[in-house]
Amino acid sequence: MLLQHSGFGIAVTGSGSCTPQVTLDNNGLSQMVDTSDEWIVARTGIRYRRLADDRTSLCDLAAEASRRAIEMARITPTDIDLIVLATSTADDLFGSASQIQYQLGATKAVAFDLTAACSGFVFGLVTASQFIRTGIYQNVLLIGADILSRWVNWSDRGTCILFGDGAGAVVLQASETDSLLGFEIRSDGTQNSSLNLAYKAQPKELIDGVSIGQGAFHPITMNGQEIYRFAVKKVPEVIEKAMFRANISVEEIDWLLLHQANQRILDAVAQRLTVPAEKVISNLANYGNTSAASIPIALDEAVRDGKVKTGDTIAAAGFGAGLTWGAAIFKWGR
Ligand code: COA
Repeated sequence: MLLQHSGFGIAVTGSGSCTPQVTLDNNGLSQMVDTSDEWIVARTGIRYRRLADDRTSLCDLAAEASRRAIEMARITPTDIDLIVLATSTADDLFGSASQIQYQLGATKAVAFDLTAACSGFVFGLVTASQFIRTGIYQNVLLIGADILSRWVNWSDRGTCILFGDGAGAVVLQASETDSLLGFEIRSDGTQNSSLNLAYKAQPKELIDGVSIGQGAFHPITMNGQEIYRFAVKKVPEVIEKAMFRANISVEEIDWLLLHQANQRILDAVAQRLTVPAEKVISNLANYGNTSAASIPIALDEAVRDGKVKTGDTIAAAGFGAGLTWGAAIFKWGR
């Protein structure tokens, strides 16, 4: 059943993705840190990850994923009203969305970055949808893109095995029927220290009595067990809340599309929700955890493989640093 809205409905009409060429497998990692293919596969399900080299920018990956999504939606860049870039690893701390707007030639669009770590795509979907619901914009490009390899501590075996790079994008369009059936997004800063990519300041005295903090961002730190427990508890809850808002039962979900962090998390969440394994979309073996990019990359692959078909109902959920988490239930296609 579709919810009735006084404003405009949303259709998800195109998807695209782009990952770097360079592949690092688990055996390669075992040359760098004390680990093994068996350990990584058993604990995470990850086998390969794609890594961006020094010539590959976040904007390049994001722009290519966007072009593919725009083509699938059968619109042109000049039709786009708004670009939302969900990322934690912008090429420029001032924001990278405007650069992508330029690269695409999306001359009419306003563009901005949104940061919510691995929940970025779901938070972006909810944010972008508000502009359509209120009738302000008709065509929105939502991108999830991250190059976490820039920020991984490559000598920390607890984290370096997990992450990869990539970009995914979707086109959202105003529609008479509403395909965004329900959502719920959440934050809890009390557990913020469980997963950080934090700025550390050093005191620097400019003149007598005027001191500032100037430093650098430090590589990712994580309490893996805390994050694991958080995900397995909170993600089913937020999906159930979104299903409640959408007024649908778990049997009506065609695909469970979780942030691709760890196969054990995917399995545990599916089990709690009683979603059968064949409805769980998983491509993390090939890409690892690509942060904000993981949901749109997995969606794009499933659409292009013919798994996800027009009218299918997808329960998507992101979770990660912040801590942040959220779910959105939507139907694929026009
Ligand atoms: N290779 C081999 N051994 C490793 C290892 C690696 N890459 N990483 C950790 N270990 C060791 C630990 O040192 C520990 O050894 P000890 O028992 O001698 O102390 C042992 O394996 C178990 O470590 P533990 O941290 O309990 O493993 P785990 O089963 O919790 O798995 C993670 C670790 C990181 C895979 C898991 O906690 C996880 O996936 N958490 C969620 C992380 C996540 O998804 N983050 C991003 C969210 S957006």
